[in-house]
Amino acid sequence: MPKVAFRNIEYCDLETIRMWRNSPDIARNMFSTGIITEEQQQLWYESVCRGERGYCWFVESEGQPVGYASLTRAERAEDTYEFGLYIGNQKFIGAGYGSAILFNILEYGFAKLNAHKIICEVLSFNTPAIKLYERFGLQKQGYFKDFLKRDNERIDCVSYAIFNEEWKQHRDILNKYICAH
Ligand SMILES: CC(C)(COP(=O)(O)OP(=O)(O)OC[C@H]1O[C@@H](n2cnc3c(N)ncnc32)[C@H](O)[C@@H]1OP(=O)(O)O)[C@@H](O)C(=O)NCCC(=O)NCCS
Repeated sequence: MPKVAFRNIEYCDLETIRMWRNSPDIARNMFSTGIITEEQQQLWYESVCRGERGYCWFVESEGQPVGYASLTRAERAEDTYEFGLYIGNQKFIGAGYGSAILFNILEYGFAKLNAHKIICEVLSFNTPAIKLYERFGLQKQGYFKDFLKRDNERIDCVSYAIFNEEWKQHRDILNKYICAH
């Protein structure tokens, strides 16, 4: 498995994260596609520092910037966290880094936070992410037709979840799968 390290986001990372998040390859897979301004990014960082966004990490591999990961307590759902991730540095796409990041997120959520359930929502056209989630044993929980409208086109959204007990079974199998590549 490629080695990835999670660290807290620092002020000097803000422009890198903003550039990644505004890039078409990432923005089109997010729920909001509007360009994030420097001011908005600053406000976002202040809310991260106040702990209002749960766990947000800058992901690196051997000192090189790779991407972003987050884990947030879900509102109104007991012991449930929602994750987010992206590879910002395109040279790391398709080489197992997404798998390594998701592995770390789930491990952190279940082993450190003792989550009961970890969830995510993904736009239905996002095949790379859906393949990744299903390979990790996440199961479809819901399908939201016409969830949002973009350029006059309606887009569906799919929700996925994995439970603590399922992760215990999956993690060793996945470790072997990821190491074999
Ligand atoms: C979704 C996303 C995180 C996946 O990241 P990734 O690094 O490309 O994902 P993977 O780790 O699965 O790698 C992709 C492919 O490389 C293969 N792979 C895995 N480990 C590998 C390795 N060590 N060497 C080479 N290839 C490897 C996988 O088999 C996979 O191939 P397949 O799915 O075609 O069978 C990435 O596409 C991304 O950032 N997308 C934009 C943002 C986004 O959509 N985020 C999710 C929003 S819900």
